[in-house]
Amino acid sequence: MSIIIQAKPIRISEPAHTKTDACVIVIFGVLGDLTGRKLLPALYRLVCAGHLPDQFHVLGVGRDAMSDERFRTQMHDSAKGFVQETEEWNEAGWQDFAKRLHYAAGDLKDAAAYRQLATRLQELGSKEQASLNHLFYFSTPPSLAPSIVDGLNEASLAQEEKGWSRVIVEKPFGRDLASAQALNEAIARVFGEHQVYRIDHYLGKDTVQNILVFRFGNSLFEPVWNRNYIDYVEITAAETLGVEHRAAYYEETGALRDMVANHLLQLLTLTAMDPPVAFDADSVREEKVQVLRSIHPMACEEVAERTVRGQYDDGEINGRKVPAYRDEEGVSPNSATETYAAVEFCVENWRWAGVPFYVRTGKRLARSLTEIAVHLKRTPQALFARTPADRIGPNVIVLRIQPDEGINITFGAKRPGTEMHTAMVQMDFSYQESFGARSPAAYETLLLDAIRGDATLFTRRDEVEAQWRLITPIEEAWAQQPSPKFPNYASGSSGPAEADRLPQRYGHRWRAI
Ligand code: BG6
Repeated sequence: MSIIIQAKPIRISEPAHTKTDACVIVIFGVLGDLTGRKLLPALYRLVCAGHLPDQFHVLGVGRDAMSDERFRTQMHDSAKGFVQETEEWNEAGWQDFAKRLHYAAGDLKDAAAYRQLATRLQELGSKEQASLNHLFYFSTPPSLAPSIVDGLNEASLAQEEKGWSRVIVEKPFGRDLASAQALNEAIARVFGEHQVYRIDHYLGKDTVQNILVFRFGNSLFEPVWNRNYIDYVEITAAETLGVEHRAAYYEETGALRDMVANHLLQLLTLTAMDPPVAFDADSVREEKVQVLRSIHPMACEEVAERTVRGQYDDGEINGRKVPAYRDEEGVSPNSATETYAAVEFCVENWRWAGVPFYVRTGKRLARSLTEIAVHLKRTPQALFARTPADRIGPNVIVLRIQPDEGINITFGAKRPGTEMHTAMVQMDFSYQESFGARSPAAYETLLLDAIRGDATLFTRRDEVEAQWRLITPIEEAWAQQPSPKFPNYASGSSGPAEADRLPQRYGHRWRAI
């Protein structure tokens, strides 16, 4: 039974806009699909919402020669397509934004490109002060990062003499511990850690940040947020989408590296971390790193027990027939790449010892949903067990990250009537119903934070390495063990049946997808 009690916000006031510095965002790899799909829609919305000053410019750097005008037209068409998927397009707002869009062609391996970039930035700045502050966005394969870093250094664009200089580095941040360390090393030769913003777009989602507010802004939940009261935690990121047009990237990556190594471990750290001493970048990230350090990297023999991988077969999603992963364009017909991964992590510290954290993600599953389900233990005494109809199960707190963002709490209640009948009911908070307003897209929040110099929602160097320290042994063990018989789950299902054995080891069950 589900009785819905709507949580209404008690007081809502619009937060004041903080003024941002004038700056130029330089996007390397601007002709890649991230720009039209995420970056420019985010910047356009920030301009329309008045978050960015007039002296703000975007300079895209790509390989092909192109005029500013052509670049603007190309970006207009691409950004408009994506923005219109969720909201109305504001043509006047775009035109205001487009004036600040510029383009430069350059080979990122050639030092001359960076000298030309420095000149271009000076020209942009001769009109205004914007050229003094620079945000360099690496929307490029990780292999290019060392050349970009060196090029910026030689062109004196990394130094912070007249203004700030920051870099945003996109995922994938390496493909294992060694490559992540090498990438960090290359960046650190030129940039101080305070200048580096490693992006994990999950941290930009309102509902992900809300995990901290829910836990540390209320005194109601934190006292039970530990092994004395919590039985287990499930973290799920299910997608109906398949590999789309990204086979070249995905074949080399797989679900574990693509989702668990970053987004899902971030959700885990936010769920498990201790309260930080302050809400600032270092205090928050310090506590997250402690969680990662409390998880022991798995030994090879543990990997077989505590992980499951899968690959999708053909099937049907929302009434549409979809092909098997191996039949997708660009995928090898014998591909051993996993499109589903489930892992049991143990956070071995005072707060969490003995509480399993089950994490799973997969493509082409029955539904798109990302959630964290915190299952509490049963009451110590089953007081109502002998009553005519006792239906009281354990409490569950579900933090819905997407879609239908919100929080749901399940608890037992007495049914109306003269006899002692009980039932489980639900209390539900929905972002949409309570606030009505659109949440900013993750990239809006993150780009604005980087411009403001707030790194709280970006991953620190040791954090990213700590994530790989947990993932690399799993990848290595999988490479040594015989591959499972792929495909092993139908598109439109909840994933491989074998995944059930992870929670079953301790008498637990996954929630339905
Ligand atoms: C990306 C992954 O980082 O996150 C994709 O590379 C995945 O494979 C995407 O689809 C999921 O993000 P979101 O915001 O749609 O949940």
